[in-house]
Amino acid sequence: NKKIVIAIDGFSSCGKSTFAKAIARRLGYIFIDTGAMYRAVTLYALEHGAIRSGMVDEEAVVRLLPDICIDFRFNPERGASDIYVDGDRVEGKIRTIEVSNCVSAVSSICEVRAKLVAMQQQMGRRRGVVMDGRDIGTTVFPDAELKIFMTARPSVRARRRYDELRAKGDEVSYEEILQNVLSRDKADMTRAISPLRKADDAVVLDNSCMTVAEQMEWFEKEFRRAI
Ligand code: C5P
Repeated sequence: NKKIVIAIDGFSSCGKSTFAKAIARRLGYIFIDTGAMYRAVTLYALEHGAIRSGMVDEEAVVRLLPDICIDFRFNPERGASDIYVDGDRVEGKIRTIEVSNCVSAVSSICEVRAKLVAMQQQMGRRRGVVMDGRDIGTTVFPDAELKIFMTARPSVRARRRYDELRAKGDEVSYEEILQNVLSRDKADMTRAISPLRKADDAVVLDNSCMTVAEQMEWFEKEFRRAI
């Protein structure tokens, strides 16, 4: 049974992680959420004074980089890995609106991308991984055997993120979430290094009106074609 790399890229909040996790479980592959890594660096920068009043001090972030120790540890309860920074589980702390508002600026820093991309390539070197992000099919694994580009209507994506944060008890407004979704799309697509774009050989999945079960059915066909 040949193991492959499955690259899942696309816009924010379109259910990439849910989909990627389901695929990984189905195939017995390792799931790697690369957005969590950019969020972890952002959280660290916030906690160490490299971001003040929402302003990212790029040089300060670069100075912190060598000290940031990120790793993933499998959590059997979730059936997925949790992300740790310096040995602390930060899974909950990286999903706040504060981190979401600064993460695109942090992820546009060249040195940040170089460090995280190298880690991601190392984690996928034995194949058998499902990696979700923005530049996996274009930059991290241009040779991935299966590339999926996910999208959904902005209003659908904002609603999903809103429901998720509300369920956790976060006092956010739908408008604020929609603005964050739209501004991250724009920042991610227009940045200089590894902008978000569909790889030429990626297949598009628009899940605006699809259930997870329907997405899995779609995936089975694509997977059979890829191996
Ligand atoms: O996937 P998620 O929304 O958690 O990603 C957070 C942010 O991290 C994105 O908006 C993007 O700026 C950045 N990111 C990236 N490259 C990746 C994954 C995420 O630039 N491979």
